Amino acid sequence: MRAIGLLRHGGPEVLEVVERPTPHAGAGKVRIRVRATTVNPADTLIRSGVTPIRQRGTEPVIPGLDVAGTIDEIGPGTSGRLAVGDRVMAMVNPTRPAGGGYAEWVVLPESWVVPAPVGASHAEAATLPTNGLTALHALDQLRLGPDSTVAVTGAAGAVGGYAVQLAKAAGHRVLADAARQDTDLVASLGADHIVDRGPGVADRFRALTADGVDAVVDAAVIGAPLLSAIRRGGTLAYVRGGPDQAAFERAAATRGVTLVSAHVHDYDGRRDKLDLLRRLADEGRLSLRVADTFPPQHAAQAHRLLAAGGVRGRLVIEW
Ligand SMILES: NC(=O)c1ccc[n+]([C@@H]2O[C@H](COP(=O)([O-])OP(=O)(O)OC[C@H]3O[C@@H](n4cnc5c(N)ncnc54)[C@H](OP(=O)(O)O)[C@@H]3O)[C@@H](O)[C@H]2O)c1
Repeated sequence: MRAIGLLRHGGPEVLEVVERPTPHAGAGKVRIRVRATTVNPADTLIRSGVTPIRQRGTEPVIPGLDVAGTIDEIGPGTSGRLAVGDRVMAMVNPTRPAGGGYAEWVVLPESWVVPAPVGASHAEAATLPTNGLTALHALDQLRLGPDSTVAVTGAAGAVGGYAVQLAKAAGHRVLADAARQDTDLVASLGADHIVDRGPGVADRFRALTADGVDAVVDAAVIGAPLLSAIRRGGTLAYVRGGPDQAAFERAAATRGVTLVSAHVHDYDGRRDKLDLLRRLADEGRLSLRVADTFPPQHAAQAHRLLAAGGVRGRLVIEW
């Protein structure tokens, strides 16, 4: 089968289409004929070596976090929930020995795989697992009570956009940041109040509340400057540690703010969570946003575009 791999770390040019053995579904597993896989910031970090991974020590390394496609082989000992021909989506952990989702076929435990949202294209379905689960993990950890106010940074992005929509679906009041050109987009996701992104955003969030927001989902990785937006006793969910995590934690403690880490792989294999996301997409409460699609041989171009910023929706490789 074809896969997209890297034999050395570096810029987008190190990505190449490679041949790998086609996997087969073992016990308790299903095989997906992948039709779409997304390009995420984490893939660029694996590619560049900022977060190097080893996949059984073999090369090339295959990145990729999301897949959508069709079940084409089912191993023994599965539940019968999925059938050959079903349109499905799943998250892949690229640190597993078999590699990530940049491949024509992927074999996964049955519990990792759920039906794709009704009516979604493969490209649309692929945009949901990783970023939806990240936003859901962030919100779950905030443990917000009813009628809470939550602020979301990077709200025009994939994680931030899902965080806005999931927080609205949970009944919260949602504040979000946006660049001027993204205001309509973020409003369409359901944010109750939108403030300009950039320096001073914490003051703008705070000005919309009496004592500060109950929680922040920081999908823009702003970190400590957001603490002043949060009331004492509130919580901030971060998606990536900053350069001085210890100072961030000290500043949060001083302000009486709890920090929680959103980590998507805590939801590896959580079919209940992925099913929840699918149901919300079926109900039209989550938007499946595809920015553009690429053939495998143009994966480097997708990585370049993502690194340049300004992409709205996910870039998707189609097989
Ligand atoms: N912990 C985990 O398990 C996990 C899982 C998934 C993702 N992540 C991380 O989550 C972050 C977001 O991922 P994503 O896929 O949502 O990326 P994305 O789609 O590129 O969205 C990020 C958004 O934040 C905006 N942004 C950048 N700097 C900003 C600033 N200073 N103020 C306000 N907005 C700003 C970006 O705008 P521009 O495009 O204009 O720059 C973009 O709209 C990444 O760091 C990613 O690595 C973590």
